[in-house]
Amino acid sequence: MAKKKTAFFCQNCGSQSPKWLGKCPACGEWNTYVEEVLQTEPTPEWAATANKDKRATRPVLLKEIKGTELLRLPSGDAELDRVLGGGIVPGSLVLIGGEPGIGKSTLMLQVAMELNYKVLYVSGEESEQQIKMRADRMTGAGQQCYILNETSLSAIFRQINEINPDMLVIDSIQTLHSDLAESSPGSVSQVRQCTGEILKFAKETHIPVFIIGHITKDGMIAGPKILEHMVDTVIQFEGDRHLSYRLLRTTKNRFGSTSELGIYEMTSYGLRQVSNPSEILISQREGELSGISIAATLEGNRTLLIEVQSLVSTAAYGTAQRSSTGFDGRRLNMLLAVLEKRTGFRMGNQDVFLNIAGGIRIDDPAADLAVCASVISSHQEIPVHEKICFAAEVGLGGEIRAVNRIENRITEAEKLGFDAIYISQFNKGLDSGKYKIKVRKFGRLDEVFSDLMG
Ligand code: TYD
Ligand code: MG
Repeated sequence: MAKKKTAFFCQNCGSQSPKWLGKCPACGEWNTYVEEVLQTEPTPEWAATANKDKRATRPVLLKEIKGTELLRLPSGDAELDRVLGGGIVPGSLVLIGGEPGIGKSTLMLQVAMELNYKVLYVSGEESEQQIKMRADRMTGAGQQCYILNETSLSAIFRQINEINPDMLVIDSIQTLHSDLAESSPGSVSQVRQCTGEILKFAKETHIPVFIIGHITKDGMIAGPKILEHMVDTVIQFEGDRHLSYRLLRTTKNRFGSTSELGIYEMTSYGLRQVSNPSEILISQREGELSGISIAATLEGNRTLLIEVQSLVSTAAYGTAQRSSTGFDGRRLNMLLAVLEKRTGFRMGNQDVFLNIAGGIRIDDPAADLAVCASVISSHQEIPVHEKICFAAEVGLGGEIRAVNRIENRITEAEKLGFDAIYISQFNKGLDSGKYKIKVRKFGRLDEVFSDLMG
């Protein structure tokens, strides 16, 4: 018997080496090299199972290629459509990553059940009965949803030839194995081989494919980085597992922008689309509480009005603690230093706890002013009026800086019934007269505070 050809692969980045290495020269990770058997036979499986004439591809004139832009299939899920850039593109390969238990299988099964064309849902992780139990909790009809419990790629392709689905879901890529690579499922060469086969299948048949991928503990999609290069779209499903909100974000999209955001709520009957997020992100409260302010932030193209809560109290044990959830801790420290230096509030001996309601993370600098207002409100125990919101960045000099897309933020605040929005006086070309909401403009932090607290 011929000796098997093997090579060593980095399980983090997928780079290859003929001998074992302790440290990967490509990504710098330690102890990631694992020996895998190389592919022996070059015939791709998809070509073998779909007995088509073997023609080589020829160059085609650009103007003669039929556009498929108009043929996007609505997925029946407005949030997913938005994230994909307006529906499912035929022949596209979409990778969905996320922590275990976040709801990837639930989301894809739900989409498969809502669609009224033939979907093949291949699961290597759960039995048909388990999937049925899950499906029974959800609302979709699932008239044309086929379930296949299979992990062998060639068997999957045989079934595809039988039933001719219009869409394919693979749950998950790490459970599949191709006969062409001999290493175990989930290894770099298997994941790469299977994805390559599926990619070829999608491009030749124009059937869209959704692949679910596990992520490692650092939040990367497990398997080689090349996986992300191979697919058309990479979607991350994220959220705090203990809270019910889930965010769907694109990190790569060949057919749309990557700034879109989808929001869901995990309920006992599956994932519910949240079309007006601001209403749930702003907690209901009775009367006015100090330490709470509302920021008009942007996540991708969506305006979210988010509640910032803080608690400031004198440090019990000498050294002050600073803790923030959902907001960058270093940015909080910077803002506290600005407050101390530019407005004279003593922060050095105060514990400061900051929390963004709803388990959301914000990176938008426009939340700065709301954070400062919330901290000072708690420090002074003076509530910020509940009908006021904020959208401005705070600079190191205590100046109130302009932020992008201010019109969108004002419109959203107005729509949600706020009386006033506090922004920077440096936003250019803004016609604040056309809004019903009061647009208050400021240049410095102390002006904002004297206005808020009288
Ligand atoms: P799942 O889709 O299995 O996660 P993943 O495929 O990303 O690993 O999600 C399972 C979680 O969702 C599980 O903890 C239970 C919860 N869940 C609900 O709360 N309601 C539901 O209707 C369903 C189907 C699941
Ligand atoms: Mg799953």
